[in-house]
Amino acid sequence: TYSLKGKNVNTWLDFSQTDISGLLAQAQHLKENPHNNILAGKTLGMIFEKSSTRTRVSFEVGMFQMGGHALYLNSRDIQIGRGETISDTAKVLSGYVDAIMYRTTSHEKLQELAKHATIPVINGLCDQYHPCQALSDIFTILELKGRLAGVKAVYVGDGNNVAHSFMILGAKMGMDIVIASPKGYGPDTDILAKAKQVAVENSGSVVVEDDPMKAVEGADVVYTDVWASMGQEKEAEERMQAFQGFQVNDELLKEAKADVHFLHCLPAHREEEVTASVIDGTRSAVFQQAENRLHVQKAVLQSVIG
Ligand code: CP
Ligand code: NVA
Repeated sequence: TYSLKGKNVNTWLDFSQTDISGLLAQAQHLKENPHNNILAGKTLGMIFEKSSTRTRVSFEVGMFQMGGHALYLNSRDIQIGRGETISDTAKVLSGYVDAIMYRTTSHEKLQELAKHATIPVINGLCDQYHPCQALSDIFTILELKGRLAGVKAVYVGDGNNVAHSFMILGAKMGMDIVIASPKGYGPDTDILAKAKQVAVENSGSVVVEDDPMKAVEGADVVYTDVWASMGQEKEAEERMQAFQGFQVNDELLKEAKADVHFLHCLPAHREEEVTASVIDGTRSAVFQQAENRLHVQKAVLQSVIG
């Protein structure tokens, strides 16, 4: 086990490249040896304020495969949904469970929970970050390419939670990350500045480019996500217009390397951000990427509470 005992998993900014490499190696080991008893008697509480298929199932199955247990706590059903404070919830849950996974509408709420919990808190997606997804993304790229440093990965689309965590973690591993977004939909400027700093420290790069065709030139990996995230349903029409020209399709992929791999965190909207020909085609690794959520999160759980 690579020990990161007691640590919160939130933005990855406070983890070293060595920490991440340790988690990736542990995930590889767990992918080959899925069952153990390392978390016997341990419980993970999982609070969801938003829908989930992958995150919920992979965390729950992951705890079970390591001898532990996971509790699904829909925020509407627990007292938080009736106004009990996040700090009281954090203190109460700290007396019952060994770690909390929180999927929330705001990064501030996540920080509030982590501040008052005495156990590790794992960000299961917030408005700004999706760290567990990013760990699976780079694990998948490592499987596909055999290395991370110097791999060119181009994220085309909304500069959202998924893009933020991917550029931070990619930069940390020395990758060359390019983000191509329509004007007004790029990554958050503060997070971008932090990711660029991480890149400098780890011999990677993070570049923002507004022409998707140019961005994708020579790419090893092309990544996209939905144009309207959970909670942005009202903006969907307007976003659909703004993102014209940013669809990942066969024409765009021609600009990338011939052996390019396509990634998407899922869920996807076919013929919006990506064509069916790409996501269901030979270059797509999206189901490998989804499966890897299980393996990398098990590594995280084992490291922080094992
Ligand atoms: N990619 C991802 O986090 O999927 P879910 O919303 O289904 O958990
Ligand atoms: N950006 C998407 C990711 C879903 C896994 C969202 O926040 O809805």
